[in-house]
Amino acid sequence: MEKILDLISKKMEKAFADAGFDASYGRVTVSNRPDLCEYQCNGALAAAKVYKCAPIQIATKVAEKLDAADFSMCDAVMPGFINLKLSDAFLRNYLEAMRNEADFGVEKPGAGKTVVVDYGGANVAKPLHIGHLRPAIIGEALKRLYKFMGYHTIGDIHLGDWGLQMGLIIAELQERQPELCYFDPDYTGEYPKESPFTLTELEEIYPTASSKKSDPVFAEKAHVATYELQQGRRGYRAIWDHIMGISLPDLHRIYDLLDVHYEKWLGESDADPYIPAMVADLKERGLAVESNGALVIPVQEETDKKDVPPCILVKSDGSAIYATTDLATMVQRMQDWQPDKMLYITDKRQALHFEQVFRAAKKSGIVKPETELEHVGHGTMNGADGKPFKTRDGGVLRLEQLIADMTAFVRSKVVENKIVEDAQVEATTAKIALAALKYGDLSNQPTKDYNFDLERFAAFEGNTGPYILYTIVRIKSILSRYGAWEALPIQTPANPFAKDLMLAITKLGPTLEQALKTSSPNQICAYIYELAGCVNKFYHETRILTEEDESLKAGYIALIGLSKNVLETCINILGFSAPEKM
Ligand code: ARG
Repeated sequence: MEKILDLISKKMEKAFADAGFDASYGRVTVSNRPDLCEYQCNGALAAAKVYKCAPIQIATKVAEKLDAADFSMCDAVMPGFINLKLSDAFLRNYLEAMRNEADFGVEKPGAGKTVVVDYGGANVAKPLHIGHLRPAIIGEALKRLYKFMGYHTIGDIHLGDWGLQMGLIIAELQERQPELCYFDPDYTGEYPKESPFTLTELEEIYPTASSKKSDPVFAEKAHVATYELQQGRRGYRAIWDHIMGISLPDLHRIYDLLDVHYEKWLGESDADPYIPAMVADLKERGLAVESNGALVIPVQEETDKKDVPPCILVKSDGSAIYATTDLATMVQRMQDWQPDKMLYITDKRQALHFEQVFRAAKKSGIVKPETELEHVGHGTMNGADGKPFKTRDGGVLRLEQLIADMTAFVRSKVVENKIVEDAQVEATTAKIALAALKYGDLSNQPTKDYNFDLERFAAFEGNTGPYILYTIVRIKSILSRYGAWEALPIQTPANPFAKDLMLAITKLGPTLEQALKTSSPNQICAYIYELAGCVNKFYHETRILTEEDESLKAGYIALIGLSKNVLETCINILGFSAPEKM
């Protein structure tokens, strides 16, 4: 469906033309004085210079040409603005069309296009910690937004499953249990199905090994093990399989708690088979060059104001690095999925890495010139005091613990306020806690840091996830008391609060479009906060269920029903959902 701004701009453009001026002056914008009007056109001010007459004269002539059926107000005011309010009929018809169209008539710029969303970035063998929260939440929301906007979306976790951490674990395991068959180079039999370590043990082995990195002898062993693993040494591959087999179900479990789901669980290891051919090709075409024993792709451009170091492809010791696997992953994605775009969500401290990789990919033709590459670099989540989030003993808080803390806090409220029957407590708690966590994060611009404040995020009032849920639940309860409502048509606004609510609903399409363009789920949060505010205002100022005029009542119900559907669509994009009662 055409956006309201475009629709009324066309009408304004025609009015300019009908009044004898160039139509291009007729662009309408949302009013910056909502106390005076809903929309405005400033074109007469610009036209005045060309037509050499007072702007107010132009504005007056143009305003006369507008159709009163569309605008309840179209006033030319000094020095030459045209202030507009939509007519009740126009607004009613627009909303009724939104109600009847699939996905409220939101335009689908992504039709026929594929986007890969690379987010989460978990590293196997290491428990997820709070640093993994933001890429998971933001990535999931952006992926769902792309999907809603018509794209075919492929979410890929891009596991860190191939790097030094694997070599560290292998080296540590060898020190502890050198007698295991995995370490015997002459062993040709089958390896045990059963892993020599449990998840709990693995979670201890890795940090212990990692803390020994400064020991040069141990570090060398780990490097060699990494290299040999990547070269395909059988015993090490078998250990790797055990690590994956133990780690992955645990990662699945925690991402499930967050309602974060990937279409692909590929990792750095899956890119490995593409590396040799890619490197050989880049060398042959002279794109990759030797530099201090390493093989690099220079990516500095003339227009750069700062130094952009070359993208390292193969280190001097022959090993592949982070950038190598990222480039090889692009090769795989282009070959298998032909995406129009690849979107990466990571900590913003990786900005330079992606700048280098993107340039190398474009320069080398690994992606097409028109393939869009975007990195969304997110800021840090700090503690409520604004300092880096630490556990009491100074460690990094586990993601699972953070979720558990939020859940416990919400559960106590749910129980205390006797919100639902006992059997519903857990399900309701989980939904509210997730909304608190996700909205608390997503309502911030991704690039900005924010402070995690459990109590504030979980509050039922204010700009929070639970407040949005509460609004939805309130509407659901009215609707269920009313009965069947889905077929009721939208009516003209019965009061100013209804009109404000209707105007807010019409902003759905433009909001989603902007959020997509700027990779800013926070704009969707701001939108639903405004919308929920309008719903609650309308609810407080209007007797809905007790209205005696049945036809009027049906109109109220249709309006809040549409509001509920829009709110639920938005929270679904953000990645959470509302309970039945709250
Ligand atoms: N595993 C990486 C990390 O922990 C994040 C991966 C992000 N995705 C990518 N294609 N590089 O930093």
